[in-house]
Amino acid sequence: MHRLAVFASGNGSNFEAIVRACEEGTLCAEVVLMVCDKPGAGVVERAARHGVATFVFSPKEYGSKADYEREIVARLDAAGVELVCLAGYMRIVGDVLLGAYAGRMINIHPSLLPAFRGAHAIEQAFEYGVKVFGVTIHYVDAELDGGRIIAQRAFPYEGHDIGELESKIHAVEHPLYVETIGKLLKEKDKK
Ligand code: GRF
Repeated sequence: MHRLAVFASGNGSNFEAIVRACEEGTLCAEVVLMVCDKPGAGVVERAARHGVATFVFSPKEYGSKADYEREIVARLDAAGVELVCLAGYMRIVGDVLLGAYAGRMINIHPSLLPAFRGAHAIEQAFEYGVKVFGVTIHYVDAELDGGRIIAQRAFPYEGHDIGELESKIHAVEHPLYVETIGKLLKEKDKK
């Protein structure tokens, strides 16, 4: 059984999709830790419902990014985490976390990278008049939304309803994240 951590700051629909895939046996894995930097976020409630252990922290209670990342790394190490999955974690990952988990940390982003990096990718692509939208899963490196791409899935959308577009993006994200994690874990099994 592989050991995953998921990092999230908000709603947590991707977190829940991954947890469900573990519970249902689609993934031969367990989410052993959910890390969240926003104590009131919806994802905290979802973790409680699924009985997933959490580390919920307020960055302002630490002196620096390096300080809270050292604590995160200690908790990941203690939980024996093999793969870290960022799912709406709204912080740039710093040197401490990257130093410990580079190559074992992936992120999901709601655009076809390298287009539309950053926190407002869906709105920006929509405003730009994009006709083919999509989702990217990539390794995390020091550059924002910049690491090597692992998987992408595209779909056409020419409607005018950003809410509908967001729902379509989420509907692509959840299975793509689960499938991609599954592939990475199978590759790990072969090594
Ligand atoms: C997703 O759109 C993901 O691509 C982006 O943040 C959003 C998180 O959504 N990085 P949720 O919290 O998983 O519902």
